[in-house]
Amino acid sequence: MRNDLAFIHRFEPGDRPEAPPLLLLHGTGGDENDLLPLGRSVSPGSALLSPRGKVLEHGMPRFFRRLAEGVFDEADVRRRAEELADFVQAARERYGIATPVALGFSNGANIAAAMLLLRPEALAGAILLRTMVPLAQTTPVNLRNKPVLIVSGELDPIIPASNSAQLAASLAKAGANVQHPVLPAGHQLTRADLTIAKDWMQTIPLRQGEGAA
Ligand code: MLT
Repeated sequence: MRNDLAFIHRFEPGDRPEAPPLLLLHGTGGDENDLLPLGRSVSPGSALLSPRGKVLEHGMPRFFRRLAEGVFDEADVRRRAEELADFVQAARERYGIATPVALGFSNGANIAAAMLLLRPEALAGAILLRTMVPLAQTTPVNLRNKPVLIVSGELDPIIPASNSAQLAASLAKAGANVQHPVLPAGHQLTRADLTIAKDWMQTIPLRQGEGAA
């Protein structure tokens, strides 16, 4: 077995076996503790798996290298998305949990988007808060019926509206069941993000007896 639990992470077991586990992916400068409260609110009773990004930018953890704000080192995006997908698989075996739904913010949402495009089997779906296109080109992928929620801010100074719309369109074209509300907000999360994510989680089909947490 590969030693794929090599991400610093937190794991909280769930107490509602039918609730999908969440893979929590923090933004730049965050860590494995950041999104635990959000995860607990968005899906009470879900198991929570929360790794810390391994790339350091001026000491701030991230999930992949960037060359400038919004300009990504795509070779690194690919490598890190594969590494994270391997970690998820190993963590599923270690903790006995089903395929998780990603809940990512900003840089964490972008690595989740890359995983959907490169390793779709690693995720049962995704909530992508303030996300953008992670890779200029990918080979066609089958995301048939995978539920994806993208929540954007129309005043986001980092992510142009056209960019998140392009990601939503390409995931939908691959078959994902995409919802893409745009809030009157900037890059930071608002209470509306929480409400929308929580409501959306209620619409995710219940797990069917797969590796209960
Ligand atoms: C990224 O680098 O993933 C995006 O620019 C978002 C960010 O982390 O600021």
